[in-house]
Amino acid sequence: MTCSILVGGAWGDEGKGKCITYLCDADKPDIIARAGVGPNAGHSVEFNGEKYGLRLTPSGFVHTGAKLMIGAGVLVNPDVIYKEFEDLKKYNVKERMHIDSRCAIINEDHLARDKNSEHLAKKIGSTGSGCGPANSDRVLRTIDLARDIPELEEYITDVSLEVNEAIDNGEDVFIEGSQGFALSLYYGSYPYVTSKDTTASTFAADVGVGPTKVDEVINVFKAYISRVGEGPFPTEMTQEEAESKGLEEYGVVTGRRRRIGHFDMELAKESCRINGATQIALTCVDRLFDCARVQNYDELSQETKAFIENIQNETGVPVTIISTGPDLKDTIDLRKELL
Ligand code: GTP
Ligand code: IMP
Ligand code: MG
Repeated sequence: MTCSILVGGAWGDEGKGKCITYLCDADKPDIIARAGVGPNAGHSVEFNGEKYGLRLTPSGFVHTGAKLMIGAGVLVNPDVIYKEFEDLKKYNVKERMHIDSRCAIINEDHLARDKNSEHLAKKIGSTGSGCGPANSDRVLRTIDLARDIPELEEYITDVSLEVNEAIDNGEDVFIEGSQGFALSLYYGSYPYVTSKDTTASTFAADVGVGPTKVDEVINVFKAYISRVGEGPFPTEMTQEEAESKGLEEYGVVTGRRRRIGHFDMELAKESCRINGATQIALTCVDRLFDCARVQNYDELSQETKAFIENIQNETGVPVTIISTGPDLKDTIDLRKELL
């Protein structure tokens, strides 16, 4: 029995989508539950030659034996869910989806307030997905919950009860966080942050699991850093430097060009500390070093190994997953050796 939480280590887009699909395909958990803010997230999944951009559906959907859940803390936009049911039809996502009755619901008014607000859209550079205004209405206790929406009735459940019963029955539960540590409302670069805490403890609370039930916290970093939207970025490089290194990126939800920077060890240490990380997954290593699709640690160059070992030594957390390409197979999995 294992209850794992996967979190983003920096400003989101660390490649959580790829890591989650790899881990869920490899470990086959019984329940895969989405935590985090809501449909402001964009997770990229490449599986069997097809690409998916997900906003609410757990990225572990590729493991078709799992129940998929959305925890009470997550904001739900029903239109986003219905679209993902269509896009992911062949994976029976609709039939496997369970939404907590206490999820708060994003409506047109939240979307308009996010997109038309000078403060949110311009100063903060929000995703325009309605999450900030919806969370503020939730705090004011005026927002509708999933239990108030008749069209969602067939998906409604008590996620906390189901997840805790599964843990008590010795089943495996995988909790997917979204966004990243540096976007946390509490610990990030306020005010240039999202509308909620985005650390492991809050993700546990999002699905209604107590801290004593969590076994593993997997903190995902990219080998470099990206940030979309406004706010400080200590290791940022110029656009020209990013281009010369072939590190251009665009957002999944907004299509905006991402700012790119060097790996930030101070951020990594703080992120591991506050998340209580037990493992690090390092993605896009092939975009910094010449190791595309390598699946064996011994085949990495000395320079690449030194980069990885330095992260491990500085953070005190083992780097158990090394991603060398977008496909699930492009993964070095050191969990057997290191844990
Ligand atoms: P999260 O928001 O953290 O889930 O990240 P994401 O999944 O949204 O990542 P992003 O949108 O930044 O995806 C970037 C692209 O890189 C996607 O097409 C991924 O499939 C791909 N990708 C993920 N891991 C790797 C990797 O290790 N190497 C390479 N070359 N590409 C990767
Ligand atoms: P909001 O969450 O839409 O209010 O956006 C607030 C800030 O968080 C903006 O800088 C967004 O770009 C950023 N943000 C929110 N979610 C994500 C994500 O999943 N990936 C990357 N940045 C995000
Ligand atoms: Mg993303």
